[in-house]
Amino acid sequence: MTKVLLDCDTGIDDSLALLYLLAQPEVRLEAVISTAGNVPARQVSQNNLSWLELVGRDDIEVCLGADAPLATPLMTTEETHGPLGVGYAELPTPQRAESHRSGAQAWSEITRAYPGEVVGLVTGPCTNLALAIRDDPGIPSRLRRLVIMGGAFHHPGNTTPTSEWNVAVDPESWHEVLMAYQAVAGTGAALPILCPLDLTETIEMTPDHVLRLAEAAGSTPAEVLSGEDDDGGRSVTSNPLIRAFTDAVRFYFEFHRDHDSGYIAHMHDPFAAAVAVDPSIATLRTAPVDVELAGSLTRGTTVADHQHMWGRPDNARIAVATDPAAFFDRLIDTVGGYARGLA
Ligand code: RIB
Ligand code: CA
Repeated sequence: MTKVLLDCDTGIDDSLALLYLLAQPEVRLEAVISTAGNVPARQVSQNNLSWLELVGRDDIEVCLGADAPLATPLMTTEETHGPLGVGYAELPTPQRAESHRSGAQAWSEITRAYPGEVVGLVTGPCTNLALAIRDDPGIPSRLRRLVIMGGAFHHPGNTTPTSEWNVAVDPESWHEVLMAYQAVAGTGAALPILCPLDLTETIEMTPDHVLRLAEAAGSTPAEVLSGEDDDGGRSVTSNPLIRAFTDAVRFYFEFHRDHDSGYIAHMHDPFAAAVAVDPSIATLRTAPVDVELAGSLTRGTTVADHQHMWGRPDNARIAVATDPAAFFDRLIDTVGGYARGLA
């Protein structure tokens, strides 16, 4: 089994990353850490508890993270993910609360319990991972693997002209995590795998993928979403998980359509989850990486020094290529089968 620790800012694509992990038979999800980002931390936590309630996995621990980034006030993006962070989905009210321990405590205690075994996956800001490493600098060396969705290297930002959302929310946290890995460079610690917009914006979910997902789950009717539909339409498909996800992703399709990307949805976080489970699906390029913190125009910009001009050691691996169709085939097969099993 692959032990995975998910740290997310649930969010529509974070929701599918969570479902993707739950649908992989070889994955044991150790805990879900709720980080402020797309929506405030407490709403992220409610979303995580609600998705786990919907699929009958209230045995999986949910931890509440810090209320704000390390050095700046929180910015959220309800316009992207909906007022509650899950688009139009109406999820069950969770019957349980978060666990007693904070997100930072969970990072430290779970990697101490299973040294060398835990795969960390961050699909939101790195706030809680950075807080954890401040108190426990041994975390990078105890992680089997770390995958982080975020950054943009040779690609426009989605939050500022050069900065990607997860970094833009908390640039200091990204800088601290990257410097922690620079400090252990050459000691055998597995360098973090970064999944930047350069690659994740090629992972375009279409209405046909949603149709195929419903069909794989045996959900009827298998619905074809369209940019011509009235905004806010609700799914009537039979499978409760497919229905909830369809309502969530419809909001995301509308957001992308309204921002000139077409009636598609970039599936940043589920792709990072797939890399966490099987890094071989991506081509990786190692480099020294850091984040601009002081630039008036460029704060939150990730920079890769491929030519080693800084004289620093490599501290990250950047996912630069993949096969999007193969990713969607696996997502549809595994999540569709998982949803079918819940019906
Ligand atoms: O820039 C995309 C990332 O920001 C994704 O993780 C999305 O969920 C938001 O958190
Ligand atoms: Ca996210």
